[in-house]
Amino acid sequence: MSATAKPSAKLTAATLRARKGTGERTVFLTAYDVVFARLADEAGIDAVLVGDSMGMVVQGERSTLGVTVDDVVYHCRIVSRGIARAHLVADLPFMSYQASVEDGMRAAGRLIKEGAAEAVKLEGGEDVAELTRRLVRAGIPVVGHVGLTPQSIHQIGGFKVQGRTDAQRAKVLADARAVSEAGAYAVVLEAIPHALAAEITASVAALTIGIGAGADCDGQVMVMHDLLGLQPSWKPRFVRRYAELGQAAGDAFAAYAADVRAGRFPSREETYE
Ligand code: KIV
Repeated sequence: MSATAKPSAKLTAATLRARKGTGERTVFLTAYDVVFARLADEAGIDAVLVGDSMGMVVQGERSTLGVTVDDVVYHCRIVSRGIARAHLVADLPFMSYQASVEDGMRAAGRLIKEGAAEAVKLEGGEDVAELTRRLVRAGIPVVGHVGLTPQSIHQIGGFKVQGRTDAQRAKVLADARAVSEAGAYAVVLEAIPHALAAEITASVAALTIGIGAGADCDGQVMVMHDLLGLQPSWKPRFVRRYAELGQAAGDAFAAYAADVRAGRFPSREETYE
């Protein structure tokens, strides 16, 4: 297969999980609406994540903490309409699962039944192992998320790289092992040193999906807005921009406004007789 050709069979948690150890890398990307979901799907993205990053990139908040289950259900349902091949994962938002396993089961059930998600992602390690086990037993595939866990920013003290001290390193490793052993088919490793990500990748059964975790993971996830340059002033170290759509959109809006004000738009060709 050429680098650009894409297979057409629907991807599932099981087909992605079967890639572990084969060297085939898995590409996750976030999306929040049908237009970008369709573009991602048609471009051959393997898994689309309806992330609680929507709190920041769609809703304009400073964190992900205000996102609700209703928000994720709403965006996930919309995204699902743009997807034919990719696997669809939805985030369990803050406080939809931290208070009890039952809360988490019900919230996950809503993401699957109402949002049309095919898997759920949740942050944490040993503390969410029991919920992970219960979800998997109930037939809901789970993606874990360890390292920098944005739902804990107040405890962490901000969006900071994790796993640099011995204690943090041991915790991230134990968390990744716990969710993998509990049955998660994949685990996101966010903002950790690449050597730790490599060690986790070699030692867990789950696929490791990195973001700010180096090149030795089994796959990668990016927030769509970062990759497309939709927020031109935001360029952290781990982001590679593949387009400058923020700049292009701003230029297009300014050109449109200038044309209207100068009487250049609409022209006769753009007008009905
Ligand atoms: O919410 C999100 O988009 C995420 C990714 C950054 C992994 O959790």
